[in-house]
Amino acid sequence: MDFKISKCSGSDLKQCVPIFIKVYAKSPYNEHWSKNDAVKRLKSVYKGNKTYCFTAKLDNQVIGFILGRDYQWYDGKRVFLEELVVSEEFRRKGVGTLLWNAFENRLKSRGVVLVQGLVNSNSTATRFYKKISLGESDYKLFEKKVRRFL
Ligand SMILES: CC(C)(COP(=O)(O)OP(=O)(O)OC[C@H]1O[C@@H](n2cnc3c(N)ncnc32)[C@H](O)[C@@H]1OP(=O)(O)O)[C@@H](O)C(=O)NCCC(=O)NCCS
Repeated sequence: MDFKISKCSGSDLKQCVPIFIKVYAKSPYNEHWSKNDAVKRLKSVYKGNKTYCFTAKLDNQVIGFILGRDYQWYDGKRVFLEELVVSEEFRRKGVGTLLWNAFENRLKSRGVVLVQGLVNSNSTATRFYKKISLGESDYKLFEKKVRRFL
């Protein structure tokens, strides 16, 4: 299959929304995103960070995407990998790797010093991250529910 990786445009982002909703509704995430909230989420990352956003397409249809956001740190510019999603039917065909390669090349060309990402430990992404040589951080995520979800 001939997958094409390109910079994510505004209209591409619209095509990312249903993929995002479908993938995160499944285990281990079980997150039920409304269309409105998914659009808000993806737009909030995309805005101001277009340079770190790519899509994978097959026959001009988006089948996967990667979105990152940069921030300043004491050692230089860092990037947080916010989303890396491939539609289930196109997994294990190298699409995630193609997206990652485009993204990593962009990080290098922008002089980014470090890239970080959050991953559910039960997700297949754990093995993917190992494959692309992302090591585990010394930092641990802490959280507390401040309001019950209605
Ligand atoms: C993580 C994800 C993007 C990987 O996409 P993909 O297109 O399937 O990745 P690739 O085909 O490039 O896989 C590269 C390597 O990663 C590893 N890998 C990926 N998925 C795997 C799985 N389900 N089980 C074991 N290893 C896996 C393998 O080593 C694979 O190489 P191989 O197929 O030659 O063995 C995809 O599984 C996904 O969208 N997951 C749900 C969303 C998610 O959790 N995103 C990450 C958090 S933001």
